[in-house]
Amino acid sequence: MTRPRLLDLYSGAGGSATGYHRAGFDVVGVDIVHQPRYPFPFIRADALSYLVQHGREFDAIHASPPCEVHSTLRALSPEKFYPDLIPATRAVMELCGKPWVIENVPGATLHHGVMLCGIMFGLRTYRHRWFETPFLIMQPHHPRHRIRAGAPARRAARGGRHISRPAAPSPSAATWAVTRASRWASTG
Ligand SMILES: C[S@@+](CC[C@H](N)C(=O)[O-])C[C@H]1O[C@@H](n2cnc3c(N)ncnc32)[C@H](O)[C@@H]1O
Repeated sequence: MTRPRLLDLYSGAGGSATGYHRAGFDVVGVDIVHQPRYPFPFIRADALSYLVQHGREFDAIHASPPCEVHSTLRALSPEKFYPDLIPATRAVMELCGKPWVIENVPGATLHHGVMLCGIMFGLRTYRHRWFETPFLIMQPHHPRHRIRAGAPARRAARGGRHISRPAAPSPSAATWAVTRASRWASTG
């Protein structure tokens, strides 16, 4: 049986891609910066240009546009300009007619979606990411954060006493989201 093909836009080093691969996809990554450690076929290109030219060749599309414009850490460099690539990415993915997922940080310009946190998957990672899809997905129960973070991290994340702890991106979260996406795609 052939595996569905997923286009991983703004791929970075492949955190999301690993989750999609575990969920059963053959993944192709695209990033404007060379990613020598990306574990799957990789194309160095502008994500929007590649999407316009090749998006329809894939069964599903994931995008993690740069989050600096929405990040709380942006306040540390107010003089820098960061583009918001979410609206254009969403618009082109909709034109492709394939199931898609946009992943981004709290505060990003997503229309709707679900919040996933590492603790939902039994991980010792309190990290919140939002996922917008054009189809319905359900958000799992979010258990309370019980491990207290240090004061600097609390201030940076404005999340109270139990907040995000720096850790590797969770492939489990992406796995969770796209497993539902693939079920949706296969049932029409
Ligand atoms: C939030 S990171 C992606 C993280 C990735 N999803 C992961 O799991 O590791 C955003 C990425 O977008 C890339 N990027 C920024 N502008 C881009 C563009 N115009 N086209 C393609 N990639 C771009 C950056 O180089 C960066 O690797």
